[in-house]
Amino acid sequence: MTNQVALITGGASGIGKATAKKLVAKGINVAISGRRVDVGNQAVVEIEAVATDGAQVRFIRNDVTDEAAMKALIEQVVGEFGRLDMAVNNAGVYNEAATIDLSDTDKFRDMIDTNVLGLYYGMKYQIAQMKRQGGGAIVNLASIAGLNGVPWTGTYVSTKHAVVGLTKSSALDHAAEGIRINAVAPGAIRTNIIAQQIDADESGLAAMHPIGRIGTPDEIANGICWLLSDEASFVVGHILNIDGGFQAK
Ligand SMILES: NC(=O)c1ccc[n+]([C@@H]2O[C@H](COP(=O)([O-])OP(=O)(O)OC[C@H]3O[C@@H](n4cnc5c(N)ncnc54)[C@H](O)[C@@H]3O)[C@@H](O)[C@H]2O)c1
Repeated sequence: MTNQVALITGGASGIGKATAKKLVAKGINVAISGRRVDVGNQAVVEIEAVATDGAQVRFIRNDVTDEAAMKALIEQVVGEFGRLDMAVNNAGVYNEAATIDLSDTDKFRDMIDTNVLGLYYGMKYQIAQMKRQGGGAIVNLASIAGLNGVPWTGTYVSTKHAVVGLTKSSALDHAAEGIRINAVAPGAIRTNIIAQQIDADESGLAAMHPIGRIGTPDEIANGICWLLSDEASFVVGHILNIDGGFQAK
């Protein structure tokens, strides 16, 4: 897969960073985007350390909620690397646990802006570029919250259901153009986004998963890398559960 180019939004931490490491270890050039320059630059050092075959790593400052900036991000990646073969729409927020009647409208709007519109902007300009090149692969970050109701999580759950809908529908639209679009649906994973929940009740979270523990970023990154690779060449519009058995219940 050498000389290929991947973009990972929100790729300076958690699942995105784990995915970036696995891709550069296969010799794939990777651009990670995010809002914090210091965190991004630190992540580049970590990711570069495991690169093979001269794979390059770039951090590009970007906020996925800004459509013009997302268009510019894809243009910058193509300008620097010459192409875009793979994209992981990973940036996401989970900012409130509340029932709908007690939830904060602005927090919900923030989640829609990032998890839904940010992912939509990404896909929009990634697909346009991949059409020009004649193909590519996109993986979106859904969740077990994209496939089920979850108490006290209705606002976030609705954004991840939207990710599933965008993934499946656009997969149908672009499969014949050589663009494969899929998603992963992780269970609870040890990253910053649920750090408070892990601190408050890790054993309770673990017990929700038949395997009896929460997952690691690497376990999700493995699935993302497979969906991006030619090994998944006949996989289209799939939502891959990586959840310790949560969805099998
Ligand atoms: N950790 C879990 O339990 C879990 C489960 C299911 C799905 N997910 C999804 O996985 C994805 C990655 O999350 P993670 O678990 O690695 O947590 P994380 O918090 O480490 O990663 C999310 C990244 O997105 C970035 N981000 C947020 N808003 C952004 C914006 N507007 N512009 C650019 N970047 C932005 C954050 O700065 C962060 O780097 C998210 O979409 C999340 O919803 C996580």
